[in-house]
Amino acid sequence: MNDFADVDRSGRGPELLDYLDHAHHGLSAPKNVMRTRMAVPVGHGVLDLGCGAGHELVELERAGLRAYGADSSRVMLDASRRRLEAFGLPVRLVRADAHRLPYADGSFAGCRIERVLQHVNDPAAVLAEAHRVLRPGGSLTVLEPDWASLVLASGDPEAARAVADAVGGRVPNRQVGRHLRRLLTSAGFTDVRAEVELVVYASATELSRVISLERAARAAWTGGLIPRGRAEALLREQAALTESGGFHATFQRTTVAWARRDGATDR
Ligand SMILES: C[S@@+](CC[C@H](N)C(=O)[O-])C[C@H]1O[C@@H](n2cnc3c(N)ncnc32)[C@H](O)[C@@H]1O
Repeated sequence: MNDFADVDRSGRGPELLDYLDHAHHGLSAPKNVMRTRMAVPVGHGVLDLGCGAGHELVELERAGLRAYGADSSRVMLDASRRRLEAFGLPVRLVRADAHRLPYADGSFAGCRIERVLQHVNDPAAVLAEAHRVLRPGGSLTVLEPDWASLVLASGDPEAARAVADAVGGRVPNRQVGRHLRRLLTSAGFTDVRAEVELVVYASATELSRVISLERAARAAWTGGLIPRGRAEALLREQAALTESGGFHATFQRTTVAWARRDGATDR
């Protein structure tokens, strides 16, 4: 999934847009948590950093906020524009690298970053930018997965661990979810909180909507973590467990963290 680091050059724009449409529905619960935690008063400006196809820009506008979107991808910004225009909502979009934002210090009362830090070169630098463009007292909410958190019930726990370790291997910051508290604190944010969503999967089919066990198993043996035969035996075991109703996997699908830029608010 690391095509999200450079959507325009990936040549997979339509597929990535479909993925975001699908995720918009699948992640409705943690997205709702993000909106609740944002707590920005109506009429104020909020930046969606790495806004993708603009799903949340629409939600922010509907909540009475002034939504601004920044993204490095033209494909994504075009999709955001189409979505906002379809709903007759204002379009406030810029093409920008999250490491260097074209906004003045203290521009926004709120900022949200969803599933972006996992793909960027330097999450700490992006959070420093978010801190800079927030006004004192402004709030930040972040949602990221932890691709290294998959746990599979297996008779071969070592092989299961090796396959889990290969999940999201192409994502540069695959564990960023578990580092959010440290990253936010280091960027100067205060009142840092975090909530983890642990999802239980009852079949390999259900899990495959989020994680491909086949791809991870292949990465585990091609990467020399376990022999091919053992990886393939694990896949057979997991298929049999699905068949018998005994499959059990857990995954920390989202960490939502929220924090404040220190200082008196002028609300
Ligand atoms: C997985 S998508 C998430 C989109 C949106 N936040 C959502 O949750 O639907 C990641 C987004 O981050 C953008 N992105 C990746 N690297 C970026 C960077 N360095 N600066 C700005 N946007 C970036 C991608 O173009 C893509 O739109």
